[in-house]
Amino acid sequence: MMKFILLACLGMTLTANAGAEPSSQVAWTPQNLDFVKKGHADHGQELMGTCAGCHNETNANPNLEGQLPTYLYKQLQDYKSGSRKDPTTAMNGMASTLSDQDMADVAAWYGRQKPMRGKGGEEDLTGIVYRGDGKRMEPACSSCHGNSGQGEKVDTPRLAGQKAAYLENTLLAYKNGSRANDIYRRMRLIAAKLSAEEIKQLAEFYAKQD
Ligand code: HEC
Ligand code: HEC
Repeated sequence: MMKFILLACLGMTLTANAGAEPSSQVAWTPQNLDFVKKGHADHGQELMGTCAGCHNETNANPNLEGQLPTYLYKQLQDYKSGSRKDPTTAMNGMASTLSDQDMADVAAWYGRQKPMRGKGGEEDLTGIVYRGDGKRMEPACSSCHGNSGQGEKVDTPRLAGQKAAYLENTLLAYKNGSRANDIYRRMRLIAAKLSAEEIKQLAEFYAKQD
C-alpha cells in the first residue's frame, strides 16, 4: 500500500515537473519494441569488437553484458541524438557511427551475454533499496529495478553487479542534472533527494548484488 502511495505521489510530481524539452527521442511504440527484439546478435558480435576495448574489466566504464537490450538501444540512441552526453564524449562519437539496425544488433548480442554478478550478502545501509523513504517521498529502488536489481521492462536497467564507480558517477550526474535522458525525469527526481553519501552506499550495494 505504502509503495502504491509513494508511486502515485511520484507520478504527480513527474507530471508537474515535465519540461518542454524531451529527455529522449526514443518512443517505445510497438514497432520500436519489435525492431529491438529482432536485433541480429550475430552481426552484434562483429560490432562488439569496437566496444570491447573500452567496455571491459580493466576500467571503470559500465558493464554491458546481460543488460536489457531495450535499455542499451535507448542509451545508444540518446548518445547519438545528444540527449545523453558522455563527459568524455567517447560515446557520442561512437554512437554517431551506428545505424538503428547496428544499435539493435549490438544490444541483442550484449543482452544475451552472462551478466556480471556481485558476490551477494550485501547490506543496504540507506534503507531505501526495498522500503524507500516516506518522509522524502522517495520510492524504493526495488519497485522499479526489481528485487535483485535485475532490471525491468522496458527501459529500467539492470544494476546488480555493475561497477560501483560507474553507478556512483551516473547517480551524481542525474542529481546535478548533467545526465538528463531519463523519460519523465524519473531518476533525476529520485537522485536529487539522495545525499552524496547515500549515493555512494547505494552504488556499493548494487555493485555487490548477485
Ligand atoms: C573510447 C571508449 C568507448 C568505446 C569505444 C565505446 N564506449 Fe560505450 N561508454 C564509454 C564510456 C566512457 C561510457 C560512460 C559514459 C557516461 O557516463 O555517459 C560508456 C557508456 C556506454 C553505454 C551506457 C551504459 C549504461 O549502463 O547506461 C552504452 C550502452 C555503451 N557505452 C555502449 C557501447 C557500445 C555498443 C560500443 C561499441 C559499438 C561502445 N559503447 C564503445 C566508452 C566507450
Ligand atoms: C520510478 C521507477 C524508478 C525508481 C523508483 C528508481 N529507478 Fe533508477 N532508473 C529508472 C529508469 C527508467 C532508468 C533509466 C533512465 C534512462 O534512460 O536514463 C533508471 C536508471 C538508473 C541508473 C542508471 C544505470 C545505468 O546503467 O546507467 C541507476 C544507477 C539507477 N537508476 C539507480 C537507482 C537507485 C539507486 C534507485 C533508488 C534510490 C532507483 N534507481 C530508483 C527507474 C527507476
